[in-house]
Amino acid sequence: MFSSQLTTASIVPRRVDTVAAVRAAIALDGAAVFGGLHTETDAIAFASKLLGDKYIRVGRQFEATARSQDAEAAVVDEQPVDKRGRKRYFDMSPDRMTAHNDGFAFGDYAPDYLFLWCKQPALPSGGDSFLIDAVKLTRLLVLDPSTTELADFCWSVDIDHSEPNFQQSTFSPIARTVASGREQARYHPFLAPIEGESEDAQWPMVRKWSETVTHVRDSGPMFRAEAGEMICIDNYRVLHGRDGYTDPNRELYSIWGWSTEAVAVPQQALDIVQPDLAALAM
Ligand SMILES: [Fe+2]
Repeated sequence: MFSSQLTTASIVPRRVDTVAAVRAAIALDGAAVFGGLHTETDAIAFASKLLGDKYIRVGRQFEATARSQDAEAAVVDEQPVDKRGRKRYFDMSPDRMTAHNDGFAFGDYAPDYLFLWCKQPALPSGGDSFLIDAVKLTRLLVLDPSTTELADFCWSVDIDHSEPNFQQSTFSPIARTVASGREQARYHPFLAPIEGESEDAQWPMVRKWSETVTHVRDSGPMFRAEAGEMICIDNYRVLHGRDGYTDPNRELYSIWGWSTEAVAVPQQALDIVQPDLAALAM
């Protein structure tokens, strides 16, 4: 059903040693790994240096530890279902996480760069990462006549990228070229057609994109970030996620970066538990 070529959208990022090499590897592959960062301050400083002249803001968004995620999941669990019967959840699955771009709830305000800094990997195993070049995936879909229509849909039809009960103010296609020239392709578990007369006709395409991303996630390679390593990701182009883990001492920090190439930059820190989208639009 799926072309075997699609798996070539999976990325095992290169481990490189200089700022220039990380930039080059991100340009080639969408991501790279840089090591030797043993404090969060060092990690943020490196991320800032990487953005260079394009730097606008870099900061820790959240701490992915079992403790912090339990607390956030408890708040989200109290939030109601939306009118389509959809409910938000934080992916605490013991299995592989749903692929996503970070900050998807914030639409145009999502960070254009993501830095996953590993302070302490899960021991003895677990929490391995996967990355998918979603822009490349849409191009691979064009090569197979059975999925060309899906590729067209991804690049041309506006859909709703909102999370349940946190309505964004704009609609856009799954994949697009933004004003700065960067390409963006998105996936998260709540993508939906815009409500209305085309909705029924469009659901199969949205579901097919979802099945395609899940297929690539489940058939592509995984890799492991070690202590002090930071996975530097083009968050517009690349989806990420991880395997489940049980080690309560695993610590991975999600650091978000905005450059001058971002579509929009929020004025304040973003709250992924209770997104205040009205404040962003002001
Ligand atoms: Fe994430």
